[in-house]
Amino acid sequence: MNFTLDRVVPWGRSYDEYLRMFTLTEDDLDRRILGCGDGSASFNAELSQRGGQVVSIDPIYIFDVNQIQDRIAETYETVMAQTQKNRHEFVWDAITSVEELGRIRMAAMDIFLQDFTAGKHAGRYVAGELPTLPFATGAIRFGLVITFPISLQ
Ligand SMILES: C[S@@+](CC[C@H](N)C(=O)[O-])C[C@H]1O[C@@H](n2cnc3c(N)ncnc32)[C@H](O)[C@@H]1O
Repeated sequence: MNFTLDRVVPWGRSYDEYLRMFTLTEDDLDRRILGCGDGSASFNAELSQRGGQVVSIDPIYIFDVNQIQDRIAETYETVMAQTQKNRHEFVWDAITSVEELGRIRMAAMDIFLQDFTAGKHAGRYVAGELPTLPFATGAIRFGLVITFPISLQ
């Protein structure tokens, strides 16, 4: 995997945002879920705390928690400024302002960071890059795959 941290702009969604974005039902959450491109979202951490089964793959998981945390700190102000500039392109419905969005995303990324090292050791965060999954054929069975739009190179 040829992936450098300067290509990464971490901006992780919260568990509630995932539920809304993927319209996840109780039945969905009872399945073993593969999350592709989960990045610094808190979905894996929070679903695991609730007793769910989820594995996330993302190329940023080759880095350690301090590297990802530093990259969040480096890019946060830029992301906020860009979002403020382009705020008319978003629907401010469930989240009503850029400031609220910033608070929700930082809280989600904190939850992710607190969970990441232990979750990586437990095999819940796996470094990988679509279109190839980092699992042997038939090694793990998933009941649901969710993915963020990803550009493949
Ligand atoms: C915009 S972020 C979304 C993160 C998370 N899904 C969320 O909604 O908070 C996109 C993520 O896709 C990851 N990504 C980019 N190319 C990928 C690929 N080929 N396979 C898997 N993940 C990829 C990036 O590292 C990044 O974490």
